[in-house]
Amino acid sequence: MADSENSVEMEGLYQPPNELQKDAHVKSFDQYKEMYKKSVEEPEEFWKEIAKEFYWKSPPTGRFLEYNFDYTQGPISIKWMEGAKTNICYNVLDRNIERGLGDKIAFYWEGNDPNDHGKITYKELLQKVCKFANVLKAQGIKKGDRVAIYMPMIVELTIAMLACARIGAIHSIVFAGYSSESLADRIIDAKCLAVMTADGVWRGTKLLNLKQIVDEAIRLSGERSHKVSKCIVVRHLSPSDEEVIDGDGDGHDEPPAKRPYRKLKINWHSDRDVWWHDVMKDSSDISEPEWMDAEDPLFMLYTSGSTGKPKGVLHTVGGYMLFTATTFKYVFDYQPDDVYWCTADVGWITGHSYVCYGPLGNGATSIIFEGTPMYPDAGRLWEVVDKYKVTKFYTAPTAIRSLMKFGDSFVTKYSRKSLKILGTVGEPINPEAWLWYHKVVGNGKCAIVDTFWQTETGGHVITPLPGATATKPGSATFPFFGVVPAIVNDEGKELTGAAEGYLVFKQPWPSIMRTVYGDHERFETTYFKKFPGCYCTGDGARRDEDGYIWITGRIDDMVNVSGHLLSTAEVESALIEHKAVTEAASVSHPHKIKGECIYCFVTLKQGFEFTPDLTTELKNIVRAKIGPFAQPDFIQNAPALPKTRSGKIMRRILRKTAVGDRQLGDTSTLADESVIDLLFQNRPNDA
Ligand code: PRX
Repeated sequence: MADSENSVEMEGLYQPPNELQKDAHVKSFDQYKEMYKKSVEEPEEFWKEIAKEFYWKSPPTGRFLEYNFDYTQGPISIKWMEGAKTNICYNVLDRNIERGLGDKIAFYWEGNDPNDHGKITYKELLQKVCKFANVLKAQGIKKGDRVAIYMPMIVELTIAMLACARIGAIHSIVFAGYSSESLADRIIDAKCLAVMTADGVWRGTKLLNLKQIVDEAIRLSGERSHKVSKCIVVRHLSPSDEEVIDGDGDGHDEPPAKRPYRKLKINWHSDRDVWWHDVMKDSSDISEPEWMDAEDPLFMLYTSGSTGKPKGVLHTVGGYMLFTATTFKYVFDYQPDDVYWCTADVGWITGHSYVCYGPLGNGATSIIFEGTPMYPDAGRLWEVVDKYKVTKFYTAPTAIRSLMKFGDSFVTKYSRKSLKILGTVGEPINPEAWLWYHKVVGNGKCAIVDTFWQTETGGHVITPLPGATATKPGSATFPFFGVVPAIVNDEGKELTGAAEGYLVFKQPWPSIMRTVYGDHERFETTYFKKFPGCYCTGDGARRDEDGYIWITGRIDDMVNVSGHLLSTAEVESALIEHKAVTEAASVSHPHKIKGECIYCFVTLKQGFEFTPDLTTELKNIVRAKIGPFAQPDFIQNAPALPKTRSGKIMRRILRKTAVGDRQLGDTSTLADESVIDLLFQNRPNDA
């Protein structure tokens, strides 16, 4: 445990720092309440005022907001500013340049290797985006086409997404840690015509051959009758084509200091593959934006679904633009001289909204970080904070917890004097980690913003405002403007005062998802049928006596591993593909660093033995099918699974078994009670 342990208090309210409050956009809780009231009572007026800061080619043709949240009254639909014409790329680049920010740094790029870095201004970014927009057009991509992006954290990733937005193509970014199969599933579901990638990337001391993963995904898509006609490849690692194409392919696990470029073997399909730099060379840097309807799709991003099949969460142009820029402005109290850093990968929603669109929408300077918090050592984040004088910093609780383990010295070695606001996202933050973040990283003088939101919400929905909200460690506090949360019980009855139940939202804010790509019915069933008239988050929440909201975690079969949601069904279907497995069930299990991890129960077919090798094989099959981040921590032999008489697996019992808790509650619905003893006998020693 860190040496700051003695200073940890478990109770208390943390007031906004005075220094920050003075110039904050929202300076007091009363001001927040007043603005909030207007935002929920007169949402059209509230957002109309904000929309004035953006460029619209033409205004909405109908009402500013039209929606139906109640499926019993008709199809669920949410429309903000329908008929208005705009372009988000124009708004985040051209508009900022027109207001004098052309020479301002849009992004600093900090590579995995501390010696690798770069920067790009708004003007330069626009030029590259326009060039790439023309490349996309030349490759036959047009408005409404889907484009998959599977890239490392490099500036080209944001260039690719903004270029799609400029021409009205819909980007579908897949985190470059997913397996070929996961990428193929997503390419096929969205019918992507093209894939953007890079040759490879170093993650810490590991070299990943991204192109190889993409090749395999495209091959799998072809097998399933979907042809990807173009693959555009950024040369991120390799100094020349020949060395890449003829490489001998043994490039693994060499430290970046040695940079064995020549060892990355890349296969080239000349009918399909093109190098980014080749097609960019002669491309024009003038590109008229496609004027999009506010309700045209901007992007889709896949998130796990409880059936195991990922859902393509679809966001549209206008509302997403307003909400990401506005949350960024207020939640990070954006000021023009800020250097802002969100460590999330752009492959997740946090990166979409708070590496790319939100900061750029405000004309901010931020950092794109390719590395990991542990490389070259556990001080890397704070080294980068000092290097760029970062003022606002945003990361995940899992990163905070893993750094805490190394003690305070990796932090205190750096000054961190520039820091003013520290944010967290992705999972509940435990008070110890919150306090360490506040006291050690922030020297006790920074505001902490614990932001609750989801891929589906597009931006922060429950969050403190740093100059206005007194915080409690572990609570996401109060709703953002335009968001109306409620806590309901099993029957959908709204609970008032101090209460615990399901977290729902009663009216739409601008960046709520509009549909599941290609499956509106699934959208309605997943989010709107459980509690008619409300959007159901899938999370539990508690409201305390002071009105603070505490997120208690998922209430469905979803596991949140290091801030990444996975469905237990997805893991189970990977496991049963192994020849030894006849049945599998996986549950969420508490984990000190990751928050939650995956604990699997497998029933083997006759003739197979449960051995350490088999455990490794089963872990590997999940890695290969989904991605390394999905690897289960525990695999347990389960000669039988606890089931009801109707054959439903009783996951509650499995969760208890996983933690070794014999207080099982009511087991009378079990078909065979003897299963329980067997399960407890077979718990792995390290569980
Ligand atoms: O369970 C909640 C948890 O992460 C889920 C959303 O995951 P995803 O769509 O991958 O987006 C993550 C980044 C926005 C939520 O349903 N979650 C997210 N933020 C918090 C959180 N749980 C508690 N506190 C948070 N601040």
